[in-house]
Amino acid sequence: MKKKVNIFGSTGSIGTSSLNVIEENQELFSVEMIAAGSNIELLKKQINQFSPVFASIQNQEMEPLLKDFLKSSSCSTSFIPFSETPYVDNDITISAIVGSAGLEPTFRSLSHTRRLALANKESMVTAGDLINSTCKEQDVEIIPVDSEHNAIHQCLKAGRYDEVHNLILTASGGPFFGKSTSDLEFVTVEDALNHPTWSMGSKITVDSATLMNKGLEVIEAHYLFDMPYDNIQVKVHPQSIIHSMVEYIDGSIISQMGVTDMKLPIHYALFFPKRMHAPSYMFDTKGSFELSFHEPDMDTFKCLPLAYQCGKGSLTSRIVLNGANEVAVNGFLNGKISFNRVPEFIENMLDRIDNKDPETIEEILALSDEVMAKAIAEVNSGTF
Ligand SMILES: NC(=O)c1ccc[n+]([C@@H]2O[C@H](COP(=O)([O-])OP(=O)(O)OC[C@H]3O[C@@H](n4cnc5c(N)ncnc54)[C@H](OP(=O)(O)O)[C@@H]3O)[C@@H](O)[C@H]2O)c1
Repeated sequence: MKKKVNIFGSTGSIGTSSLNVIEENQELFSVEMIAAGSNIELLKKQINQFSPVFASIQNQEMEPLLKDFLKSSSCSTSFIPFSETPYVDNDITISAIVGSAGLEPTFRSLSHTRRLALANKESMVTAGDLINSTCKEQDVEIIPVDSEHNAIHQCLKAGRYDEVHNLILTASGGPFFGKSTSDLEFVTVEDALNHPTWSMGSKITVDSATLMNKGLEVIEAHYLFDMPYDNIQVKVHPQSIIHSMVEYIDGSIISQMGVTDMKLPIHYALFFPKRMHAPSYMFDTKGSFELSFHEPDMDTFKCLPLAYQCGKGSLTSRIVLNGANEVAVNGFLNGKISFNRVPEFIENMLDRIDNKDPETIEEILALSDEVMAKAIAEVNSGTF
């Protein structure tokens, strides 16, 4: 029987790669539900190609267009309001919405799926404990799609949990590896989006340039693998061939290598615990290639130490880190904040939000909304 897959964020970089993997394995997977943000044209193409049982769009202005399209087309796909999408039963949910908008559908889908293929790292950053405990209650397994965590998931098969010494997350270093703070004073959006090794959505690409992406991944790793922050290291590895490593107590370091194509971890997340042939993702091991490793520059890229600090701090601080960063990245993309002021903006927001100790999903979402609203007001005030 085919496995039913729901995709949140089907029109994004991870969403389209996920559909590519499903297309290559149509005899094993069927698309039950796809949900987009606003990109109605791509969503229509995906509906025509994959005939999902349900399709949805989050942007309410686009809803009538989607309904009209579904009425007039010959496909059998039904419209479903975005708020109802998490309740569509399925075998595998791919969580690939970008940013804090991904949390609510990811969380609410946990009682309607068997496996969470998690790309939306922001969910783990803002609600790691709640997601873990709910997955336990609902017997849902999380398979990370983020390439670093996917690599660690694989490397952890080489030993027992109590034999792990350190998790070592690799970072490409982004487009500004080796630059100083003064070099970065006037960088443009185009410079920041020019990632040397990965092709991704704009938010994660800017996060890679500031190293906040690695910071969010450190927190994600803490929750996914139950590892203390002092045992999660970051190494800059500009070739992006090793996707991450696990160091065991006997000194052995196990790494996972592969091409820089997110279809590889998505394929793993769909097929786990099996491995299936995927000739197009083979890494070319012929000839010579280099692997180099460097310490991250925590003075220039202040978002990374900030993320460690919030990781070890309160849940409120992680929600502020995540929300303020998201607003700052949008501000940078819209020319309202300079690249170097992103960490300063986040620090400022951390000082301005009182600790709330949210426990339920409603409390977490409310705090996240409050942070984003305050951060947006700050950006619009022009102070930054
Ligand atoms: N891209 C990668 O290689 C990569 C690697 C590891 C982890 N991740 C993580 O995966 C997630 C997605 O990244 P991405 O690069 O695929 O992002 P992306 O290309 O920007 O795509 C984001 C997706 O989210 C949808 N979306 C945006 N805002 C939404 C909202 N308010 N409600 C519902 N849907 C919304 C977009 O819809 P529309 O386009 O239709 O508006 C799109 O489908 C992020 O959390 C990222 O950190 C990505």
